[in-house]
Amino acid sequence: IAVSQIRNFSIIAHIDHGKSTLADRLLQATGTVADREMKEQFLDNMDLERERGITIKLQAARMDYTAQDGQQYVLNLIDTPGHVDFSYEVSRSLIACEGALLVVDASQGVEAQTLANVYLALEHDLEIIPVLNKIDLPGSDADRVGQEIEEIIGLDCSGAIHASAKQGLGITEILESVVLLVPPPEDNTHKPLRALIFDSYYDAYRGVIVYFRVMDGLVNKGDRVRLMASGKEYDIDELGVLSPNQIQVGSLHAGEVGYFAASIKAVADARVGDTITLAKARAPEPLPGYAEAKPMVFCGMFPTDADQYPDLREALEKLKLSDAALKYEPETSSAMGFGFRCGFLGLLHMEIVQERLEREYNLDLITTAPSVIYKVVLLDGSEIYIDNPSTLPAPQGRDHIEEPYVRLDIITPEGYVGALMELCQTRRGTFKDMKYLTPERTTLMYEMPLAEVVTDFFDQMKSRTKGYASMEYQFIGYRTNELVRMDILINGDAVDPLASIVHRDKAYYMGKALVEKLKELIPRHQFKIPLQASIGSRVIASESIPALRKDVLAKCYGGDISRKKKLLQKQAKGKKRMKSIGTVDVPQEAFMAVLKLD
Ligand code: GTP
Repeated sequence: IAVSQIRNFSIIAHIDHGKSTLADRLLQATGTVADREMKEQFLDNMDLERERGITIKLQAARMDYTAQDGQQYVLNLIDTPGHVDFSYEVSRSLIACEGALLVVDASQGVEAQTLANVYLALEHDLEIIPVLNKIDLPGSDADRVGQEIEEIIGLDCSGAIHASAKQGLGITEILESVVLLVPPPEDNTHKPLRALIFDSYYDAYRGVIVYFRVMDGLVNKGDRVRLMASGKEYDIDELGVLSPNQIQVGSLHAGEVGYFAASIKAVADARVGDTITLAKARAPEPLPGYAEAKPMVFCGMFPTDADQYPDLREALEKLKLSDAALKYEPETSSAMGFGFRCGFLGLLHMEIVQERLEREYNLDLITTAPSVIYKVVLLDGSEIYIDNPSTLPAPQGRDHIEEPYVRLDIITPEGYVGALMELCQTRRGTFKDMKYLTPERTTLMYEMPLAEVVTDFFDQMKSRTKGYASMEYQFIGYRTNELVRMDILINGDAVDPLASIVHRDKAYYMGKALVEKLKELIPRHQFKIPLQASIGSRVIASESIPALRKDVLAKCYGGDISRKKKLLQKQAKGKKRMKSIGTVDVPQEAFMAVLKLD
């Protein structure tokens, strides 16, 4: 296929605005997927995604299209994940394209996450085609939403396409616009090979399957390729295109999108953003913009049953094969025994991994509250990074602590501004800016410690705005704050996974709220259990759980052994998801209590 007949594009949309439905329509309209083969939402093919109704991993599809000018085109749709945790992957898939459809729900309007991706696309000079979707809905107002896009993004919406992905309206117009407005790739086939990896996944039989866009040159089946960032070399066993099922081809040239398999053992060896070149005729420079995903959020994971530790290690090793961003290292806690400290891109990533470990590997885990990574400057000026609050050096051993800050952008209906500002205030946010987008909608900008965002900020924002506000955040650097480590003592023993790093001004309030919460969550035992919060050796709050009066076994009159066993079994069942710390059984919820103090 000639380069002039190729169009590479992606779809930028907020969650639920109809990206997957539209993608399905495009596949159907171009005959890429026959109607009867059409599973709902072809592009999202991971179970978890389907269940949650969100796109986590990106995929691609190649469509053959005969346009109204009578010519044959190849349209490559590159899907992007819809969540901030994966914004680096979004940026890589966008630079693999020359254009993007900006899909906005005409009954809703532009949302925060959409904006971030549109700006990314504009930065990379992509042609952006506005599509106002869901015009079949009675509440839709395409003109108002078009105006909003012009106002916020400065994109001319006079020619915006009015569409209903659900009813199949506007689909031909979208395909024609892609052909007419998205520029073809540059014809760089004569240059040395450079191809951009925009996604990969692990296949148990063929090894890692790498999705890429050829930027320069030509790649053939059987070629020995070199990955420029990792420095590793592989022979291409299988080369193909995604239509959207894999179909093998002999070669792919500049402008084309495809996949290859080369017995690569782990996705970490073929990372998103890396450049593929030929081992024998290397390109002098890799493509710009490669970065390794950095974990931002950490938590401890411990098996409820210590015997499951080897299984947990094996499960993490396996998950790591398909998840380059996942980090983990062994952690031993006097309270919890053996487990792992794990690092994630963000909260969603963390939840996905936890859920997969439990569902796919049948593990029973206790996970500790998420924490961010702190920079501690020691007295001699050296810096260390702390991802586990319980390892924070004592005050006399350090000069100061810095914590990660983010810029937070929120878009909300005007009526909730007050409630949101109050929320941001209590989360140590610094107000930066506020703008009216339209008379009804407002954007708020704050700078805020990431630690305050990774607690339940998102849920709080949603519940205070009846789900109408949307947010997006970006790391902006480290800042010094008066931070202290707060320890929790149960029955007189410090429980390290319950330690947290908090701002000095909030410590008293949080200590009090936390021990009260733990009193609710930890069941009564045969004995009284004192609970304390302390900073250093100073106790700042205390409570106690009264002893249980009734002995379950007392009812058995000492006689019937089988009855006694049954009762104990019943009790054991109720104890699921508990961790014995000393002589106290602590339920999973207690480890997350620090997130629920508002
Ligand atoms: P993510 O995969 O999470 O990014 O969501 P998405 O943007 O792919 O949204 P999806 O296509 O899953 O659509 C969300 C919901 O909107 C689904 O219930 C669709 O049936 C519905 N929907 C999509 N397009 C239209 C439309 O044109 N009209 C109406 N009425 N509903 C639509």
